[in-house]
This record gives sequence, structure tokens and C-alpha cells, in this order.
Amino acid sequence: MTKLRWDPCLDTGIEEIDWEHRRLLNIANRLLDAMTRGKGEVAVRPVSRDLLRHAEEHFAHEEAYMRDMGYPGIEAHIKEHVGLRKSAEKFVAALESDDPPGAVQLNALMSHWLLDHILKLDKQYAAFSRERAGKGQCP
Ligand SMILES: [Fe+2]
Ligand SMILES: [Fe+2]
Repeated sequence: MTKLRWDPCLDTGIEEIDWEHRRLLNIANRLLDAMTRGKGEVAVRPVSRDLLRHAEEHFAHEEAYMRDMGYPGIEAHIKEHVGLRKSAEKFVAALESDDPPGAVQLNALMSHWLLDHILKLDKQYAAFSRERAGKGQCP
């Protein structure tokens, strides 16, 4: 199973946020690994719970960050987080069911869940933050 790879264009330039994104990607890869090696529910469950917990912390952190800087797109962004949270919870519940999804489905979910979201939405508030700080736009 192909692991998720970090691409430099995913960097927002906000150090703590980038660090959290990379940590989420690493946990997703650990989960892919546990699933593809067929380690069973005993190995998969703690990693999937870890992913949910860190995602929750990350969303809360981002939302506080956007609120603090008066980001105008915050409501739409929070709505996306609600959708992502639901799909992740659904996936984890399915993992613990009698008919768990496979690593291919996890890879597809994470590509959308993590990478698309960062590229489309997280980078928008990062650009806003840079503009506010007078640092201009990244190319
Ligand atoms: Fe994010
Ligand atoms: Fe986000």
C-alpha cells in the first residue's frame, strides 16, 4: 500500500499547524501500516483512536487560531471540519465492525480528508494570516 507522502506545497508556513498536519499524516500512515500488515483490531484500534484524538485537537487549535485573527472564512471552514470529523468517526466505527474497510479505502479517505483539505482550505487562512502580518502572498 502506497503511503501518504508529504509534499512541500502542503506547508502553510505556520510552524505549529504544519507540525500538527505532519503528525496527522504520520498517524494515518501508521494506521495504513497496521491495516495492511493484517495486525488485526488489537493493533488498528489504538492507532485509529489516536488519529481521531489528534484530529480533534488540531481542528480546535485551527478554529481558535482563525477566531483570534478574525478570519472571515471561519464559518465555512468549521463546517468542513464538522464534515471531516463525521467521516473519520464513521470510518473508525466501520473499522471496529464485522466488515471493516480496507487500506485502499483509508488511503482514499485520508487523501481527501487531510491533503485536499489542507490544500484547499487551510492554505487560505494561512494566506490571510500572512497578508495581515504584512508578509505578502507566497507564489
Ligand atoms: Fe488543518
Ligand atoms: Fe482545517
